[in-house]
Amino acid sequence: MNDASHANHAPNAMTGDAPTPGQAAASRPVIEAHDLRKVYTLGAGMEVHALRGLDLRVMPGEYAAIMGPSGSGKSTLLQILGCLDTPTSGSYQLSGEEVADLDEERLSQVRNRRIGFVFQAYNLLGRASALENVALPLMYRGVNARARRDAARNALDRVGLADRMGHRPNELSGGQKQRVAIARALATEPDILLADEPTGNLDSKTGQEILGLFDALHAEGRTILMVTHEEDVAEHTERIIRIRDGVVEASESVTQRRRPTLMPGGAEG
Ligand SMILES: Nc1ncnc2c1ncn2[C@@H]1O[C@H](COP(=O)(O)OP(=O)(O)OP(=O)(O)O)[C@@H](O)[C@H]1O
Ligand SMILES: [Mg+2]
Repeated sequence: MNDASHANHAPNAMTGDAPTPGQAAASRPVIEAHDLRKVYTLGAGMEVHALRGLDLRVMPGEYAAIMGPSGSGKSTLLQILGCLDTPTSGSYQLSGEEVADLDEERLSQVRNRRIGFVFQAYNLLGRASALENVALPLMYRGVNARARRDAARNALDRVGLADRMGHRPNELSGGQKQRVAIARALATEPDILLADEPTGNLDSKTGQEILGLFDALHAEGRTILMVTHEEDVAEHTERIIRIRDGVVEASESVTQRRRPTLMPGGAEG
């Protein structure tokens, strides 16, 4: 089948590896951050130390939750891991490549092919339909219009929004917008999914559907990091990484994983 997902699994130009979900070298972390620091400089010499020497290792195919008080640095960390922002200092290696050493072209390849990002505030284009919003990242990958539309339809179908494809964000509920944002992150079939409070604005039924979807993506071998404020949501993952004041305070395996009670589309799981 000549679908869009094929191009996604093109060999990694720098390492020769194919970053196909589940095929990455199991012994090597997919994410390895060491002594990450992020200082935001505000006016009048004010500084905010959002990350203060954070260390983190994530193995390929892991499904983990990031928890911590408001302002502890969770979104800052996720943006750096998603290559959307750079740390002030420290090392971040993605599959063994030092991200700071990548040129702009290679960085945008990584952003577009390897990583799917779900923003805390959706970041949808207001004038574009759900379908157009989801198809947009594929345009940056040179996927043709028809394949873009098909991939976007599939992704929206997967989050249970097949009947809302033509709606613009202001014609959707908060939970539906959240699902469009998740579909957009999935459309490129990334091997790493970074999601900032993906269930934060959802009712519990829709939240369960999203967790069911994440479970399925995890079973496909994708690496998932999800920020959440809810302990019972975090317990759907394999590991809870607790952040406080810009460092990892604890990392705990989830011994009794919760299972989603609903799968996307409303089928009982
Ligand atoms: N662009 C920015 N400029 C200045 N300070 C910032 C910026 N972004 C975040 N901060 C500050 O950095 C700290 C960490 O913010 P961050 O958004 O990472 O927290 P968070 O853990 O995601 O919180 P929440 O749970 O409320 O989303 C906060 O004190 C915040 O005010
Ligand atoms: Mg945040």
